[in-house]
Amino acid sequence: MKKILCPSMMCADFDNLKKEVELLDEAGADMFHCDIMDGVFVPNMALSPYDVECIKRNTKKPVDVHLMVSNVEIVCDIYIDLNIDIIYIHPESSFHISKTLLRIKEAGIAPGIAISPDVSIETVKELLPLVDYIMIMTVNPGFSGQVYLQYVNDKIDRIIKIRKDYGFKIMLDGAISDKIIQTLTQKGVDGFVLGTSALFREDKDYETVLAKYRKL
Ligand code: DX5
Ligand code: ZN
Repeated sequence: MKKILCPSMMCADFDNLKKEVELLDEAGADMFHCDIMDGVFVPNMALSPYDVECIKRNTKKPVDVHLMVSNVEIVCDIYIDLNIDIIYIHPESSFHISKTLLRIKEAGIAPGIAISPDVSIETVKELLPLVDYIMIMTVNPGFSGQVYLQYVNDKIDRIIKIRKDYGFKIMLDGAISDKIIQTLTQKGVDGFVLGTSALFREDKDYETVLAKYRKL
């Protein structure tokens, strides 16, 4: 099956956001990953709804948002209105996660959960039948350019094992490298978020990099 390669747009060149979207689109990116932060749930800020709108306007490919915010019920509505393709929420960010996931689904948007390194699959088991995507985070949410947390590998193996009982796709987000793409594609991971080290380099030769990852 074709792996899903998703540039992490917080790592893009913001002087030229439209151009970046066009370049990545032509280079074969499958989906645009948009990190949304509020400075509370994580100690950083990333894309705004205006950036996401700009990305959406300049590609026909799917756009996802990864909500790292504490008031997810409110922020979620902004992206439902923008008609985003996938909305990821963190289960530890709200007391009403299943309600929010169902609202996303009812709006015709694919619901996903993002699992932080310290959140176990067991604690979100009830949510698994409700989601189309599970995004396992291999860094602590908030910043690009961090180090891959090896201890998450065990959780990835476990989610791959139980996936046959459900219908979701498995994505990885955080410090993804060619080695990780190769090993984890073979194990059964469906897609990868590509950030600073994996994709966004000075030369902007996205086509060569994405073609290389496609073959791994
Ligand atoms: C981190 C974000 C990631 C990040 C990926 O909180 O969710 O999407 O931008 O960037 P790298 O691959 O550099 O970790
Ligand atoms: Zn992300």
